[in-house]
Amino acid sequence: MGDRKVIVFDTTLRDGEQTPGVNFDKETKYKIANKLVSLGVDVIEAGFPAASNGDFEAVKYVAENLDGVTVAGLSRCVKSDIDRTYEALKNAKKSRIHLFIATSDIHLKYKLKISRDEALKMAVDSVKYALGKFDEIQFSAEDASRTDWDFLVKVFNEVIDAGAKIINIPDTVGYAVPKEFGRLVEYVKDNIHDRENVTISVHCHNDLGMAVVNSLSAVESGADQVEVTVCGIGERAGNAALEEVIMAINTRKDYFNVIHGINTKEIYSTCKLVSEMAGIELQPNKAIVGFNAFRHTAGIHQHGVINNKATYEIMKPEDIGITTDHISMGKLSGRNAFELKLKNMGFNLSRDEVNIAFKRFKDVADNKKVVDDEDIREIVEDVILNSKS
Ligand code: KIV
Ligand code: ZN
Repeated sequence: MGDRKVIVFDTTLRDGEQTPGVNFDKETKYKIANKLVSLGVDVIEAGFPAASNGDFEAVKYVAENLDGVTVAGLSRCVKSDIDRTYEALKNAKKSRIHLFIATSDIHLKYKLKISRDEALKMAVDSVKYALGKFDEIQFSAEDASRTDWDFLVKVFNEVIDAGAKIINIPDTVGYAVPKEFGRLVEYVKDNIHDRENVTISVHCHNDLGMAVVNSLSAVESGADQVEVTVCGIGERAGNAALEEVIMAINTRKDYFNVIHGINTKEIYSTCKLVSEMAGIELQPNKAIVGFNAFRHTAGIHQHGVINNKATYEIMKPEDIGITTDHISMGKLSGRNAFELKLKNMGFNLSRDEVNIAFKRFKDVADNKKVVDDEDIREIVEDVILNSKS
């Protein structure tokens, strides 16, 4: 039997847009959506059509113009939202409505002010109403990780019986811990109706910094779909970062034994595009795509990677689409790195010249965090000039 495929549902354009201060207009959504198609995601959640006229137009535009991917729209479990989502998605090549209602007692009591039975009825009625209007129906039990497990399964089973083919388990407030979340996925998997024909999805938030690890734990427990955003942007502390989930699966293929449709070489440029469009600068130590993610500073590390990159790099930067130099020159850099740098910059110095240049480099580095190529060029040209005079 071949490896199981994990479906990648990207919600950069919906939950990602819930990042405070982010607003994608329709052209921007279309631009990002095209990039997501090149990246190879399976489903793009383009927005929440009933939220505003602008978002309705944006989702409609993306749905009408995008090929090769399923386009999803978020909808509350109310007829007016479903109708609006239908209008936005009706010309998509493949459409998916993403229905959601909260199921945890705290949300039912204080937010929706309805009983469990009322929420269940709204969920089932909405799935029935959506049937036939979309290619696929996905149902999310908002705040699933804080919902009573038996009630959660009851809701899932009734929406499955009504026609939903994808059920999503959101850790809406990033409350879950990995083992427990994995157990929840297993519990749902073991207790839902029609398991063979139903996709189990997870949607993790990052409030405790565990969105990625919870998503991976869910994959390990048999989840079929992960909901992610590029660079992990999203409401509050954000969502599970697509690039981190995917590169963990790839780098530890021996452990996860699953496949996906992502072309990892597109990761870096996609992250650059999204961070630029969102106006969010990535933290330098951001996993996978941060400025420092493949930079080596300590002399011992630099020596290692010069001899064999695998000493300190568990992924190849080229696999993510990064092609820049990885040696960060500073006071901790060793002679090996310095000599390699000179070679890469096209300098061919005598032994004596290298000795003088290296000493000068160390003096400069003592007063500067990073010594860039221009600093090194200046040092070397000065050394060459003096050795000739
Ligand atoms: O976090 C959440 O619960 C959501 C749902 C709408 C899936 O974004
Ligand atoms: Zn969310």
